[in-house]
Amino acid sequence: MFALDQVVPWGRSFAEYIAMFALGRSDMTGRILGCGDGPASFNAESTRKGAKVVSSDPLYSFDKADIEARIAATYEQVIDQTRKNQTEFIWKEITSVEELGKVRMAAMRAFLDDYPAGLVEGRYLNSELPALPFHDGAFDLGLCSHLLFLYSQQLDETFHHASLLELCRVAKEVRVFPVLALGGAISPHLEGSVEMLRAAGHLVSIERVSYEFQRGAREMLRIKRDDG
Ligand SMILES: C[S@@+](CC[C@H](N)C(=O)[O-])C[C@H]1O[C@@H](n2cnc3c(N)ncnc32)[C@H](O)[C@@H]1O
Repeated sequence: MFALDQVVPWGRSFAEYIAMFALGRSDMTGRILGCGDGPASFNAESTRKGAKVVSSDPLYSFDKADIEARIAATYEQVIDQTRKNQTEFIWKEITSVEELGKVRMAAMRAFLDDYPAGLVEGRYLNSELPALPFHDGAFDLGLCSHLLFLYSQQLDETFHHASLLELCRVAKEVRVFPVLALGGAISPHLEGSVEMLRAAGHLVSIERVSYEFQRGAREMLRIKRDDG
């Protein structure tokens, strides 16, 4: 079972999503799924701008007070860990560990403020890979940030393949960032996943984007569904 005390909630901002996934104006006009969005502010800020975003994450089985308390309990630990491993990151857009803390907390605050309304509106759904509760082609674009490939040690190849195929089932196009695992090496599941997706008839590319925070993580996997 998904237990909150094992989760370290950490959420990125709308601006980071735009850069990670090279999102253009036309991408934002369709129906978007954010899979594993957690406490990121992408849904909150996109909704405010008039976009249609649904976020799917097992974190959403918890209420606002529980998630808020968990963020408060783990925040210092994440900041300390980042300070110890500073050389693994590029301090350019975000210039210091202190600024990182502020950027992440602002994003998570925006998420928390939006969360109760988003739950009611069905924009935050408690559901998880590799099986999503959406019909085929429900979304124009599926985004997955800092879950697949990053947690290659915890999530095996079978999980990756099933999850990528599931994302392709529910979205016409899928983008995943990053393609590196924790530690900075290319995910051991990347090559096999690309082969599997191509064998299934999908169009697959690995594209450079303008975002880089984890050193070397500057590429996204882009999959266009084969609609025959
Ligand atoms: C490192 S966080 C990334 C959050 C957000 N995408 C971002 O980039 O800021 C990973 C997220 O994946 C979620 N997660 C874990 N297992 C999942 C699964 N099987 N399906 C969907 N989300 C999952 C976690 O709850 C967490 O919110």
